[in-house]
Order: sequence, then structure tokens, then C-alpha cells
Amino acid sequence: MDAFLIEGGRKLEGVVKISGSKNASLPILAATILTEDDVYLENVPDLSDVKTMLKLLSNISKEISYEDGKLLIKQGGEVQTVAPYDLVKTMRASVLVLGALIGKYHSARVSFPGGCAIGARPIDQHLKGFEAMGVKIDIEEGYIVANVDKLRGARVVFDLPTVGGTENVMMAAVLAEGETIIENAAMEPEITDLASFLNSLGAKIEGAGTPLIRIQGVKKLHGGSYRVIPDRIEAATYFIAGAMSGGEVIVDDLIPEHIDAVLKKVAEAGIDFKVEEKRVVVYGGKRPKPVQVKTRPYPGFPTDVQAQIMSMLTLARGTSVIVETIFENRFMHVNELNRMGARIKVEDRTAVVEGVEKLKGAPVMASDLRASASLVLAGLVAEGVTKISRIYHLDRGYERMEYKLNALGAHVERIKE
Ligand code: EPZ
Repeated sequence: MDAFLIEGGRKLEGVVKISGSKNASLPILAATILTEDDVYLENVPDLSDVKTMLKLLSNISKEISYEDGKLLIKQGGEVQTVAPYDLVKTMRASVLVLGALIGKYHSARVSFPGGCAIGARPIDQHLKGFEAMGVKIDIEEGYIVANVDKLRGARVVFDLPTVGGTENVMMAAVLAEGETIIENAAMEPEITDLASFLNSLGAKIEGAGTPLIRIQGVKKLHGGSYRVIPDRIEAATYFIAGAMSGGEVIVDDLIPEHIDAVLKKVAEAGIDFKVEEKRVVVYGGKRPKPVQVKTRPYPGFPTDVQAQIMSMLTLARGTSVIVETIFENRFMHVNELNRMGARIKVEDRTAVVEGVEKLKGAPVMASDLRASASLVLAGLVAEGVTKISRIYHLDRGYERMEYKLNALGAHVERIKE
């Protein structure tokens, strides 16, 4: 397994280019199941989660290739509407093929996604949406078995704004008979990106990005080409890296409004930065003021940036409070940050972060994607060397992270452990 060796205390300066969004790419890739025509995708990041989704698509019905930097997804040979356990267990977002398989083939066998480090991550809302559309759902030997004769549009009211649930029901609805209405839909930019991708193939979706989405079923979808939005979570991660350890760091190729809640919170902590059309210039190195953070569905403060801002707040001039309202177990980075000299106490879903003068390098363990990112950020500013084990977690969601950081002047070495 790979590890990172990070020599802390080096000032970051320069430009970091943001890659395409992992969490927009995954549902958009799944949505290619809904058409048999060719689809060209640009700005899909080279990540292990994307590779897993591509493997899944070729298992089901697609031929994948690259043509001058664009991903080409063609209809392949015989179709098998299955997402096997060995793929779903490595990436629970594989469950996003369920809606597309139901929408296109009216049948699916998808391994029931397990929980993951950050929580149980049930999919009851997804299944409730499909059942409202007339789909029969059984669970057999750990697989979700879905079948429907006539897929009908329906009114789906979510108990909570689930990102995956909204995406899955949207994909099932685009070829259904009649209209589907999703109430209490999630509003993340990745939902809006999926809807505009599907509309570019001939779907009729209105209201994506609001809590009420209307989908008129159509007969079929044609092919097309599409460019995926930049990754707002990667952007927020480098923005905070610059705030913590930077001189002047330019985060380039992002959509600033997608990280508005993060920008506002970091401004409240007294960090200086300026926002331009497609980039943010952050002037780091100042000790932040303590702040209160509460994670919320979009447009609130993103849970996927909670660990990263906690890293920054370990060095604040005072005590901060962070409440994680989305996932039940998303503080795995706390013990590891404390090993580096942070002073964080967790009480249920609340972390109290008492600011310290400095962090010290130490051997630490990555546990999930964003917790690993927070350990990298801490390692960049800690005194001495930090070794982060199990960075395969990082490779799921950050494209060429050591290259991007070293280009800013960091000293991050990937070693075999
Ligand atoms: C997506 O996960 C993202 N993943 C997550 O990013 C992100 O943290 C999450 O949305 C919240 O923003 C992808 O887009 C691939 P949810 P998802 O359904 O769809 C509960 C990362 O780091 N819930 O909005 O699984 C659930 O338990 C990953 O890139 C139900 O109870 O998130 C959780 O508490 C981590 N029943 C909350 O809703 C359901 O049927 C939010 O889950 C579905 C969800």
C-alpha cells in the first residue's frame, strides 16, 4: 500500500488547476446507460472511483475508449443489467447505476451497497422512489433485484434531501411514462450537472438545483458530448491548503459560487482572499480566528469539507465548534489530528477544537477520502515529517495530489509501504 511522506512548514505559492468533479462524473457516467448512442465526456477526472464506474459500465453494456482526451462511451455487445458485489463493495456510488438500469431496461440486479467508514449510508429513499414508480424491489442474497413492466412517472417526496437518491430517481424517470415530481430534492451542483447532461441527450428535466424537480418522460435519449463541472470539493481543499500554509495560492478552473459557504466561513476566520470569475486567489499564512461550523445540505457548508476546515481550525487563535449533521461517523480524522498535537474533543456529532500554536509531524492513518485530505493539510503545516498510511483513500477523489501540491512548493513523496 502507498503512503505519503510530507515535510511540513514549506510555504505554498503558485497556481493549482482544479480537475473535473468526481461527484458529477459518477452519476453522469451511470446515466450513459440510458442511451445506446455514442457519448463523449470531457473533464472526467482520472480517479480510482471513476475507473471503478467505467469497469461497471463495461460489465453492463458499454465500450469505453479515449479519443484526444475525451472519454468515448459506446454501446457494446450483449447487455447484462448487473452490478456485482466485488465492484459495489469497493465503491458504494455504484448504486447509481440502479436508476439508469431501471429506466432503460426495467430490470436490475445491484449488490446492496454496504455502509462505509463515515456511516451506514442507507438507500431507503432511493428504493421508496422506485417503488412509487411501480418498480418491484426484492433483496436476494445481498442483491437488490428490481423489476417493472410499465415504468410510470410518480410523485416522490424524500424524507431528506439525498444526493444519490435524487440522482437515482431522476435517471429512472427520464424514460418513464408521464411526469415524475421529486419533492425535497437535493440541490447540489452535481444534481444540476446531471440534469443538464441528460437534457443535452433529449431528456426533459426542470428545476434541478431547487427542492422541486419535474421530469417529463420521453421515448428515448440520443447521444452527445458534455463537459463535466469542476470539482468543488477539490477546489475547497486546495483553497484551505493555501489559507493554512500559503503565500499566494491561485486556485484555478473552479466555479467560485459552488464553494460560497466555504469562502464565507474562511472569510469569517479572517483569511484574506479574492474571488475572480474562474479562480480564487488566497493569501495564506495568517493564524485563523476560531469559528462555528455546521455542515448542511447544499448550499450550506459541505460535509465533504468538514475535515479539511477542521485541520485549519486546529491552529486557530481560540476554540472552534464543528457540528456534523449529515453523517453519523465523520470524525475519524480527529484522533489522527490529535496525534499531531491538535486539541479536539468529540461529543456525539460535535467536535470542540481548541486552537494550538503548532502541529508536529507524526505517523498517521487515513480512514476515508476527506479525512485523508485533512491529514495532508495538517502535514503541510506541521513541524517535521508526517507519514500518512493507506492513501488509496485519497486516490479515490484527488487527481495527482502530490504533483499538484509539489508544484506549489510542498514536499510530498509517495512511498510503498
Ligand atoms: C453524496 O453521497 C456524495 N457522494 C458524498 O460525497 C457526500 O458526502 C454526500 O452526497 C452528501 O453531500 C457522491 O456524490 C458519489 P446522501 P450520498 O444520499 O448520495 C442519508 C465524497 O467524499 N440517507 O445525500 O450517499 C445518509 O445516511 C462523498 O465525495 C438516508 O438516510 O449522500 C446520509 O446521512 C462522501 N437514506 C444523508 O442522507 C437514503 O436513502 C446524506 O446522504 C439516502 C441517504
